[in-house]
Amino acid sequence: MPTIISGKEVADKIKLEIAEEVSKLKDETGRTPHLAAILVGNDGASKTYVNAKVKACEVVGFRSTLVALEKDVSEVHLLNEIDKLNNDDDLDGYIVQLPLPKHINEQKITEAINPSKDVDGFHPTSLGKMILGLPTFLPATPLGVTEMLKHHNIPTEGKHCVVIGRSHIVGSPMSILMSQNTYPGNCTVTITHSRTQNLKEITLQADILIVALGKPEFVTAEMVKEGATVIDVGIHRIEDSSKKSGFRLVGDVKFDEVAPKCSYISPVPGGVGPMTIVSLLKNTLLAAKNKN
Ligand code: GUN
Repeated sequence: MPTIISGKEVADKIKLEIAEEVSKLKDETGRTPHLAAILVGNDGASKTYVNAKVKACEVVGFRSTLVALEKDVSEVHLLNEIDKLNNDDDLDGYIVQLPLPKHINEQKITEAINPSKDVDGFHPTSLGKMILGLPTFLPATPLGVTEMLKHHNIPTEGKHCVVIGRSHIVGSPMSILMSQNTYPGNCTVTITHSRTQNLKEITLQADILIVALGKPEFVTAEMVKEGATVIDVGIHRIEDSSKKSGFRLVGDVKFDEVAPKCSYISPVPGGVGPMTIVSLLKNTLLAAKNKN
């Protein structure tokens, strides 16, 4: 049977380390790391994520501020809010929760964030530095995945890593990190997407398969090599009348049939999700330290 990579367990351990660093920083400088999140509109999933981020701040001793804006807020108004956060000396970092409503240009918003406060690592400056291997804020989900591999000492050098999905937030940065001359890294990386032909032939060659395409239970057992490591980045609500909530959470991987073939596999929930949040905390702590 596979080893289950519990993101929750790894995240809890890293949160303890962060909390210790926070009290040291407070003692030495009198400052407490401070993260803000801008949430636009009422999307249920986005609200859940932002609330989880705010709650995680409490757990490690950060200050947090939630800026909630109506779904019909104008782009100019949002840019004004961003300008305020950029100029708030009391704030170490902030995120704008995505996706944004269609009338707002996401790229324009991302580029308005001061790179020194870009704890999501989505600004072109942050991503450019990442590609060059320079110190910067790494995007939270890819950073979280590398921490999971590290925690279990999963060998990566010379391995074939196949990434499914090429989003700017996950697939694309993930593929770059896994190819870099570091640990985890030094993989031969194949990035696949919706136009990829013969996907199954490619995924069957993966020693490490990172799945981030956003389709519930897309990866089946016949797509996975015996002994592979599978990291599931997807998260979806599936209707389930047997649950009190009326739904259950599944990933991009058909866990029950894929797991028996793996050496390591991350579950959903309790896998990558908690790691994304803890990576955001790590970046915020880094931003606070950079200030001193
Ligand atoms: N939407 C989905 N994932 C993320 C994330 O990591 N950061 C932000 N800001 N929005 C997201």
